[in-house]
Amino acid sequence: MSVPDSPTPADAGALREEARRLLAANDTGSFIKPSLGQYPHQWNWDTAFIAIGLRHLDRVRARDEVRTLLRGQWGDGMVPHILYPDGASDYFPTPEYWQGDGVEGAPPFPTSGLTQPPLLATAVRRLHDDAPDRDASLAFVEEVYAKLLAWHRWLHAARDPDATGLVAIVHPWESGTDNAPRFAPAMEAIVEPTPPPYVRADGAHVRLEERPLPRDYDRYMHLIGLFRSWRWSAEAIYDGSPFLVQDVLFNAITHRAESDLAALARDLGEPTEELDAWREASAAAFESRLWDGASGRYLDLDLRAGRWLTEDSFVTLAPLFGGIPTPERARELVARHLGDPERFAPGEAANGVRTRYLVPTHAKGSERFEPRRYWCGPVWMNVNWLLVQGLRAYGMDDRADAIVRDSLELVRRSGFVEYYDPRDGTPCGSRSFSWSAALTVDLLEVG
Ligand code: DGY
Repeated sequence: MSVPDSPTPADAGALREEARRLLAANDTGSFIKPSLGQYPHQWNWDTAFIAIGLRHLDRVRARDEVRTLLRGQWGDGMVPHILYPDGASDYFPTPEYWQGDGVEGAPPFPTSGLTQPPLLATAVRRLHDDAPDRDASLAFVEEVYAKLLAWHRWLHAARDPDATGLVAIVHPWESGTDNAPRFAPAMEAIVEPTPPPYVRADGAHVRLEERPLPRDYDRYMHLIGLFRSWRWSAEAIYDGSPFLVQDVLFNAITHRAESDLAALARDLGEPTEELDAWREASAAAFESRLWDGASGRYLDLDLRAGRWLTEDSFVTLAPLFGGIPTPERARELVARHLGDPERFAPGEAANGVRTRYLVPTHAKGSERFEPRRYWCGPVWMNVNWLLVQGLRAYGMDDRADAIVRDSLELVRRSGFVEYYDPRDGTPCGSRSFSWSAALTVDLLEVG
């Protein structure tokens, strides 16, 4: 099939219409599900990605997505990674599995006890910046600002009690990139997991060859078992979780969100000193704790083992989204990683793996690269979108245009699915995937 380099207006119009239909089909009436089969509840960073795209189709409804997510906020400020406002489904973990009932500050409906990358403030800023209805938009920002700030206060207090400048995640699900190979050494350190009894349900909707392995699930559930036995005490979890990682992606998104919160604060006439202090501290800590000058990469820091996680993944480029590296370093990072066929650039690696599409989420030259397994290598539309934003902010428009072109080619040939094989675009994971549709609309509208 021949695909034009940039979409014609008719082609863009058709894609936009398909995306609109998909989002309508995934709409429960109060929130948009990540997908019809596999993910029937409300997810945290999915909501932010969905709102970013939905604002071009229905801005009022996009604001409601933000509101419904914030209804799940806990009393201490934490915004959970999954909300179950409509109760159970065939998804596992079930609402009961988390044992959040009766935990102080938990909302009136079940949620998970974990969080996810805090992209919501960035979504709110995008929603506000190009809103034609300025008064309504400012009222919306006023309504949600304190809740967003409370979440970020919780992140710093609960997940950085030693004031390193970076927040830690306590479960790979909090990174949003669950079974990413970069976490393997930290997960393997849980030598004999003792998960509470569980039965996976993901195989009912997605081929298990494309999903995390049983050994990953045992460890996911082992961690949940520990945390629920500690009644979801943030202090006990930080002190005791065998998995404790300062994740590059999570912190790049946090840093970006805090810049966006500061912009919103200025529009509201609110003070920004606290936000400025967080941003300053995290920029310095990116340099002192996450930058490995020897390999020229940003690396996740495993706080339990006291060492970097050195697998070669797309996260080394995520600080561009945060606006963290200097322009020189950003250019070097991009040339060295995005431009290298051993890692993320199209072409053939020395091990014979040939990819066609930008951006594989794990380096194809790595032994742990698996082009169709969840976060082990496939192209994800949200990662492409994050990288496009970062590249544009540094003026690397040619690189950004190449990612947009590949993203649009993928959705045209394989539909709005969860992830794509970077070798040939084969659709993988869940079908009818909301953020793939929503972010396509944003790429078409904003580029
Ligand atoms: C899943 O069920 O795979 C989700 O990623 C958990 O958030």
